Amino acid sequence: MTQDEMKLAVAKAAIEYITPKLDKESIIGVGTGSTANFFIQQLASIKHLFEGAVASSDDTANRLQALGIPVYELNDVNEMVVYVDGADEFDPQLNLIKGGGAALTREKIVAAVANEFVCIVDDSKQVAVLGGYPLPVEVIPMARSYVARELTKLNAQPVYRQGVITDNGNVIIDVENLDISDAKGLEEKINNIVGVVTNGLFAQRNADLVLMGTASSVQTITLN
Ligand code: 5RP
Repeated sequence: MTQDEMKLAVAKAAIEYITPKLDKESIIGVGTGSTANFFIQQLASIKHLFEGAVASSDDTANRLQALGIPVYELNDVNEMVVYVDGADEFDPQLNLIKGGGAALTREKIVAAVANEFVCIVDDSKQVAVLGGYPLPVEVIPMARSYVARELTKLNAQPVYRQGVITDNGNVIIDVENLDISDAKGLEEKINNIVGVVTNGLFAQRNADLVLMGTASSVQTITLN
């Protein structure tokens, strides 16, 4: 299977997994990125089974609307049955690095609201320890230099993602060579730097389930 075929396979597996959980009033959280885009395409085929979706980015909202799936503001939603999204890396504890597509803040907010977080990935995203992929950090523009200096104190290399403005009007710093042996602790520590909106570690709210596409199958990975 090619990488795209794996992404399609996990998107279909996610549809199969969530369908029994849906009713006419269900709201689904939808992530951002190339794997999430395969999921969005598949979601159109079951749009009669649920009420609508909350999008984790403007791009995802546009894609959902183009397929006739109603998009709701998160503030108008009381309950979200499930959030489905990709990741840049996941570890054996189902902690994630996200934000390759610069949508990490809205992704983290939508994931926080959802009853369940289903992460869909191909097997290139599986790692023993997070950190091979640079950690994205969303930063208020005027704090960029200060936050970069503070991140350097973690013995890591901050790299300004040139030319990228998030849907929230902020900038992204990608942090290379971080020691992420304590994902929860580091998530909190970086979020405590003044000027940081949030970082792409999803450890406080990790995935509940990972559907991973391999060359021959889709594996279901949980902590139990
Ligand atoms: C966007 C994300 C994506 O989920 C992550 O970058 C994975 O993307 P892809 O499915 O294209 O590999 O966090 O902010």
